[in-house]
Formats: sequence, structure tokens, C-alpha cells
Amino acid sequence: DGGEATEAEGGDAAASGDVITVGFAQVGHESDWRTASTKSVQDAFSAANGYDLQFVDCDNDSKAQIDAVRQFVQNDVDYIVIDPIVSTGWDTVLTECEDAGIPVIVIDRTIEDSDKYVSWVGSEFMNEGLASGAWLKAYAEAKGIDDLNVLVIEGSNGSSAQIGRTDGFKKYADEEGWTILDSQDGNFTQEGGQQVMESYCKSYAGKFNVVVCQNDNEAFGAMDAMKAAGVSYGVDGDVILISFDACKAGLEYVQSGDINADFMCYPLQGSYCADIIKALQNGETVAKETFMTEPWYVAEDILPSITYTNNAGEEVTEDLIVVT
Ligand code: AHR
Repeated sequence: DGGEATEAEGGDAAASGDVITVGFAQVGHESDWRTASTKSVQDAFSAANGYDLQFVDCDNDSKAQIDAVRQFVQNDVDYIVIDPIVSTGWDTVLTECEDAGIPVIVIDRTIEDSDKYVSWVGSEFMNEGLASGAWLKAYAEAKGIDDLNVLVIEGSNGSSAQIGRTDGFKKYADEEGWTILDSQDGNFTQEGGQQVMESYCKSYAGKFNVVVCQNDNEAFGAMDAMKAAGVSYGVDGDVILISFDACKAGLEYVQSGDINADFMCYPLQGSYCADIIKALQNGETVAKETFMTEPWYVAEDILPSITYTNNAGEEVTEDLIVVT
């Protein structure tokens, strides 16, 4: 946790003790991670907890998301929560929120072109990407594999999750001289992962030994495509499979050895968000940034921990959790 502290006036409900109205512009419903995120926010802002939650599933449509935020302003909600589909294009609408006196809290993905929000809670995606690279480097060394030919299935283009995971992994690939054969958008969905992998299996047959999927649902689709193409993967296969999220089904595939390593992205941010709103209601200052703790899960007990330099330039040793 950390970041510069900010203060903002709470909404109208602060004074009256009434029900607090929160508008939440959610990305969509593309993944298991997203389902968990939605439930977490809905649970935190339940009627029983004293909230009226206006929830909009933006179906991965950036314009619909901006429209949803504008509608929340029209509705004069007390707080607006945004999980931004893409990281840019936010300053105008956040200025409108600010002018209306409605504090904005950003969760999960980041906004890069405006700081007109009170607080952000989420993941350091660059570190997740660096983690996957650091693990692959150590794993390949331990296994004596020195020629890595990598296919990447990226998450939705322009999202901070896609940008951070891509850049972090690429840093290792560049340093280590790995070949990235291709890197295409799988849209964070199982269907997208399957389609991209089907095309990779045709174009790069026999040429790849690593597949990096930027979330578990893409990995599920990629596994189906590799199975259909007769490509073996996981601890007993020819292809090292890396994933992100570490959702329940993802960890079951780590346990069975189908996914070699899965880097957690922690989805249960609703209670953090509710704590921020409670603090604002009480006139307290809140942290500008709160980072989730994100363990690394692996299928084999061959490396106890990995030491790497994170995005803040700190040398960090992270234990690997073997899923048994
Ligand atoms: O923004 C978080 C990412 O979005 C998760 O990794 C992915 O599963 C989701 O769709």
C-alpha cells in the first residue's frame, strides 16, 4: 500500500447519513476474474451495507463506459467507481465528474492520462509481466532449455493489464534474447485465446516451446486449440504454458500440471473500495494508490523462490507456491 495521500469531499450522503449511491462502470464479463470482481463490488456495496449501487456492464466498449460515467453524473450519484477498459481518453469525463463534485475511485486497471480521481486500488501489471519473465528465465535454466521461442496471447489492447504484462515480459525476452514469434490480442476471453492459438498452431507448427496467455480464460482456450492440433503442453509436454490471474479453474490446471506457472491478479477489490468511501465519508485522507498482494503459483517443486527487480527498481524475492 502507498502512494501520495489525497483528500476529497464526500458526496451529499456524507452529511445526511442517507443511503450512499455509487455508480460502478465495470469493464464487462469477459473472464472468471471479471465475474469475481463484479461480485466483490456488488457484495461490498449491497443494500444491507447501506448502499444503492448503480451497476453498468460496459461489455468491453470504451464509448459505452464513458457514457455510463456521464449518466452517473446526470444521476447525481455520491461516488463513481471505474474499472477503465483502456488507460487513455479519460481527462474530459473525469473533469466533468470533478466539476460535479463527485469523487471518482478507480479500481483494477489504471488511467494514464488524467489524475482527476481520488484513489486507485489494483495490480502492478508491469510487475506481473516481469514476474513471468523472471520465472521463465530461472525455470529454463533449471531445466537446461536454452532456446526459447515464444508465442504471446495478449489481453485486450490498450488496457493497462495488457500493456504492463506485455512490457514486463518483453523486458526479460529482450535481455535474454528469447524469440517472440508473435503476439496477438485474445481479448481476455476463452474464445479469443482459442482462435489466436488455432491460428498460431497452423502458422508456427513445431516452432514454439513457450505460450504466454495474459489471463486464465485465454489459457483455457489455448489449451483446447493445442489439444486439437496435437501439441503437448504443461509439465509433461513440449510447450511451457504461462498464465495470469490464478483464478480457481486456473489453479486447478496448475495442480494438474497443464499450466506451468500462473501469476495472480487479485480480483476482490470491492472491500478496499468501500473502505476508501468510508474514509472519505469521515473526512479522512486516503492513499492515492493501493497495490494488491499477488502470489506466484507453479506446478513443479524445483525452484523455491525467485529474486527479481520490480518496476519500482527494488530487488524482491518472491516465494513460489507449488499447487499440490
Ligand atoms: O484487468 C484485469 C484483467 O482483466 C484480468 O487479468 C482479466 O482476466 C480481466 O479480464
